[in-house]
Formats: sequence, structure tokens, C-alpha cells
Amino acid sequence: MIDRLTIDRILDAANIVDVVSDFVTLKRAGANLKGLCPFHDDRTPSFMVSPSKNICKCFACGKGGTPVHFIMEHEQLSYPDALRYLAKKYHIEVKEREQTDEEKAEQSERESMFAVNEWANTWFQQQMNDTVDGRAIGLAYFRQRGFRDDIIKKFQLGFCPDKFDAQWQAAKAEGYNEEYILKTGLCIRNEQGKTYDRFRNRVIFPIHTISGKVVGFGGRVLDSRTKGVQVKYQNSPESAIYSKKRELYGLYQAKQAIVKNELCYLVEGYTDVMAMHQQGVENVVASSGTALTEDQIRAIHRFTENIVVIYDGDAAGIKASQRGIDMLLAEGMNVKLLLLPDGEDPDSFARKHTATEYQEYLRVHQVDFIQFKTNLLLQEAQNDPIKLSRLVNNIVQSLAVIPDDITRTFYIKETALTLEMEERLITSAVAKVMKQQREERRKQREREKGGSPDSPDSPPALPVREGAVTTENEVSQPSEQPGEDVISPEIEKIIASRQTTPSLIGTAGGESGGRKSGESARILQTEALLVQMIVRHGEKFLCDVEDEESGEQRPMMVVEYIQYSLESDDIQLRSTLHQRILEEALQHYREEGFRCDRYFQNHPDIAVANLANELAHDPETLSKIHNKGITVKPEEERLVELLPHLMTDYKLAIVDDSLRQIMLEMRQPETIADKQRSLELMQNYQDMKSIQKELSRQCGDRVIN
Ligand code: CTP
Ligand code: MN
Repeated sequence: MIDRLTIDRILDAANIVDVVSDFVTLKRAGANLKGLCPFHDDRTPSFMVSPSKNICKCFACGKGGTPVHFIMEHEQLSYPDALRYLAKKYHIEVKEREQTDEEKAEQSERESMFAVNEWANTWFQQQMNDTVDGRAIGLAYFRQRGFRDDIIKKFQLGFCPDKFDAQWQAAKAEGYNEEYILKTGLCIRNEQGKTYDRFRNRVIFPIHTISGKVVGFGGRVLDSRTKGVQVKYQNSPESAIYSKKRELYGLYQAKQAIVKNELCYLVEGYTDVMAMHQQGVENVVASSGTALTEDQIRAIHRFTENIVVIYDGDAAGIKASQRGIDMLLAEGMNVKLLLLPDGEDPDSFARKHTATEYQEYLRVHQVDFIQFKTNLLLQEAQNDPIKLSRLVNNIVQSLAVIPDDITRTFYIKETALTLEMEERLITSAVAKVMKQQREERRKQREREKGGSPDSPDSPPALPVREGAVTTENEVSQPSEQPGEDVISPEIEKIIASRQTTPSLIGTAGGESGGRKSGESARILQTEALLVQMIVRHGEKFLCDVEDEESGEQRPMMVVEYIQYSLESDDIQLRSTLHQRILEEALQHYREEGFRCDRYFQNHPDIAVANLANELAHDPETLSKIHNKGITVKPEEERLVELLPHLMTDYKLAIVDDSLRQIMLEMRQPETIADKQRSLELMQNYQDMKSIQKELSRQCGDRVIN
């Protein structure tokens, strides 16, 4: 019932980029923009938006169209309602004539249900804020839990009075159709034909879609009545507009903060989300106590790739979440996890800390899934081969679902480092699991092809993995990782490769000098390659650089580059002999006619001379790494290319070693007892990890072996 003129104004105003951006994070791609398609399980951005044509389209599933089409599809609205949606967005006034009773009846079921919910949402809030009982019971409840009024308002919290059918009566008086009041589940009709309010005497948390429409409610009993048989939370029943497994509580309030911070926190409950907002952390959503579903993961993925899952310190919950972690990994998300102290949830924890402390805690304590699993399980697995095998198997299973090669390789490296096991064995175990999975999928597809066709009324939605969904009002049950107890020979091999930890011996003050672990040996080897370059080419020209002071071009020599690069990361060569060669080369390289090779090979100190001779004449070192039998230009002409590589290798070896040292120290009982030190170490670890990642990137494909 919108007139033509208004329709045209709406169509003119609606900008496709604007409209789509409310739901999908878009990145520039030439003249267009692209993002993850909201209509199918998209892992690589296939959803294109053309600003010039003012349309969008998914190249994988084909959905899209004009702004109105997009809204119709995405919000499941009729054409006129999509127009109304856009009118509201663009502040265009829509003059509509009153609908006749017939027209009202014609409104689709969904729209009617939304209308009832919208009304109920306002009614609940009025009951809480504008009635004596509501203020004394409902509002008082939230305030006493420490929620500020602005938060109560932001989440549109409400209250349903303790009367048999107050809402039922009110809704009918407003003219809402009984059928829809019942279908939304706001009211329930019993066998005697009596109708009563589902949420009576509960405080109300409305549940919004991404665009802010109310699909359902959660109602919590007041504290005094939690004990006894009462179910703490009653939620709206599954209906044409509400499915618990599809919605994420708080996404509507969080979406902008998620995009801005490029990160989403995931918690369990309604109050957790609110408490975090109150602490200034607004990029947070709740799975509402159920195991995470693919629909929910996709909803988050549209806004960010980065997720931090927050657990309260209860072991059952953590075991249950295993599957959720793997699903997030499989979706290609960057998953971090965070464990709160024993017995705390994000809400209770918030009440004991300032906003700054809270945010600091989140920042410092998030770890990737390998560290998380290892921290959680290694302690008890340490001396128990069965448990250790389970831990390794568990990690291998998770690694195998990561779709991106580089990410997977990165995590395999980390696993090897953390558990001190051989990387190549882990790699092949993971490869084997991946092969099995592919095989499984192939068989599954064949079964589906040959099997019975989908029944006509089966939901058209994407397949939700079996077991990932729990029913109404039921909190997720621990689901065992498949095959957790079947320890394959591959896993056995990995365990056997485990280096015996030198733990507990001489940890105070770190190195006792004599310990030459695999990592330390690697540092010395890569360091020797750098020194070899000094001995062979130290005084030679490397490249032109811009002088920092004068801004003019000046030549940089090999030894200068090495010194400069080491200095910029505050690195000292480990071997005193190496350090000495570097220093002496720096002293002399500018002298007329000076040549490093001649100088060092004829050095008066026999130790220096011997090393220099060895390095100068070793024909293999570089060809071992870089040539692989292809004839290439002589080393001297490839210095510009070789040196940065050698440097990165060296730095990577140092970082890997530091990470290992940190892990060792973190596992010491003294450290575990010392919270302050643990925190410091975790911070160091995080810092080192990011350096490592950056270096690995510089190393490019050479680290992926
Ligand atoms: N939940 C539910 N139905 C239940 C129990 C829980 O839907 N019977 C969901 C709710 O979304 C709840 C979340 O699971 O927020 C987490 O449950 P729980 O930790 O028990 O509740 P809290 O959010 O901590 O609520 P409160 O702090 O008020 O006890
Ligand atoms: Mn709680």
C-alpha cells in the first residue's frame, strides 16, 4: 500500500554498497567490491557488488540483485516490506493507508509473527520500566546484578508480570490475532483450553536478527526462584521465525564493533554479552548455551575472520566445545581461545574487575588452539603415554580440518615446537587424516546420490553437522572427538620422536652453557652461513641505499648490511668467534684494497683462520639451500638476493628457539605457581609468535617443506 511516488524515491535512494554492507564486510576488488556470500556457505569471497550498476550477485550460488532483492532474500521479507525496510534506512516517510481486515489476514504468517514480537518487545519493556511491580522486581533484579541503565536499555530488557495471562489479554486488546500470539510462543494454550503467558514472572532478553528484528525472547526466572524445579531460562519455541541454532545473541548490537575491531568474542550467555558491553568490549556474541552451529559460524564470518572463544573455567564445557573449535577452523577462521579463572564466567569476572583490567586480561590470555589444548592437557599427559597420544591425536584432527595450506603449515610447526616432536611426522599424520576425510566425503556424496531424495518438507538450509545442535533449553553435552581412542601408528611415531625434556634441570637463569638442543644447533648453523658471507664477500658492494641523514644514495657493503640488520633487531651473534669476525670485518672493510677472505684466512689467531678457511672453501653451503642442481649465476652476483634470505633464516631460528624456551619455562611448576611470571611469559610468547609469523611470511614458501 505504498504509493508509486514513494516507491520510486526509495529505489532511487537505496545504494547497493550501503545496503549490503550492513550484512557483509566488503573489500575493494577493482571497480567492484566483494565479500563472503551471505546466502551460501562461502569460504572464498564470491559475492560481488557493483556500485555502478547498483546490483550484487554471488558467482557461486547466483543469488543477488537490486538492493530490494537483496533485502527480500536476506531478511526474508515480502517486496513491500523490503521497501519499508529501505525507507526506514533512508529516512523516507511512507504514507500508508490503514489496512483492511482482509489485508491484515493476508499478511504472511512470518510478518504477522514479527509484528506480534515487536509489540511484545515494547510491552515487556513498558512492564518493567513503567509499572510499580516491574520496577521493584524486574528492573531491581538487573540493577542488583550490577547492570547499568544504559546497558539495560541497549539490550531492550524487559519484564513479564507474575499474572496468569496479562500479556495474552493485552495482545488481544491490541487486536493481534490469537493464532500468531500462540505461534510465536509468547502464550501457551493448555489442554483445558486455557491460555497463559509463557514468560510470566521472568525478566526478558529479546533476541534480534542481524538487522534488529525481534525473532524471540529468553526469559530468566528471578534469583529467588532459581532453586527448585524451575528451568532458569525459558526461550521462545522454534517457529517460522525463530530457530535457536541459527541466531546469535548480541550480533545486532555487536556487528559494527566486530568489523571495526576485526575480531569477535564468543561467549555462552545473555548476561555475558551484556557484562562485556558494560566493560567496553562490544564485539561479542553468545551462542546461548548450545554447541556452535554452522549457521552461527557463517553469521560471524561475514563480519570477521578472527574469533576468540571465551570459556569459563569448567572442564566439561571445554571438552564439549572441541567440535566447535574444529568447525571454526574448518570454516577457515583464525581461532583463539581464552580460559577464564576457575569458576568465573565473563559476567561474574566483569564484576570483579575494572574495564581496563578486563580488556587487558582478554588481550593477554588469548592463545591459539594448540597452546590451549596443550596447556590444558599436557600437564596431566606428561607421564602418561595414552593421554599424550590422545592429546597429539586431538591436535592432529584439528590440524587436518584447516583449509588453508599456509595456516596449516604454520600450526604444524607450532605443534612440533610446543610438543617437541618431529614436524615431518606430524605433517604426514595430518596428511593421512586429510586423505581419510576426503575419502569420507566422497563416499558420503556417493551415498547421497544413490540414496533417497530429500523429503519435500526437509529444511532447505545448509546441512548442519549431526550432533552439533542441541534442542531447546538444553545445554550442549560433551561430544567425543571421533576416533579419540584409536591411536594410529602415525601418532605413536610422533610420540616416539618426542625429545626428552631437559625440564627441571638447570632452568634457573636459563642456559647452563652445555645444552645444545636441536634449536640451538640450528641457530649456530644459520649463523655460520652469515659469517661465511662475511668471510667470502664482506667488503663487497651489496646495494645502494638512501642515507638516513643526507637522503642521498650511498653504497652499502655486505658486512654493513649484516651489522645493520642484526642491530635493528638487537641481536648479538651467539658464537664469540663469529662475533669477532663480524667486528673485525667492520673495522677494516673500508680500507683500500681490503679483502675479507684473504684477511681472515691468514688471521694471526689460528682459531679464526681455521674457521675462515673452512667457510671460504665449503662449496656446498649455499648450493645446498638455493640451487638444487640448477645452474645459476655465481654467488657473488646473487648477494642481494641471498643475504636477506639468510638473515631471515637466522632470525627465524632465534625466534623458534625463544618460543621453545618460553614453553619450557611456562611448564615449570614454579612458573605455574607464579601468576605474574606466567603472564609475562604468555605476553612474550604472543610477541614472539607474531614475529615468527612475519618472518615465515618473508621466508615465503621455503619454510613450507
Ligand atoms: N540457556 C538456555 N536455556 C537454559 C540454560 C541456558 O537457553 N535452560 C542459555 C542462555 O542463553 C544462557 C546461556 O545458555 O544465557 C548460558 O547459561 P548459563 O551459564 O546457565 O546462564 P547465564 O547466562 O550465566 O545466566 P545467569 O548469569 O543469569 O545465571
Ligand atoms: Mn552467569
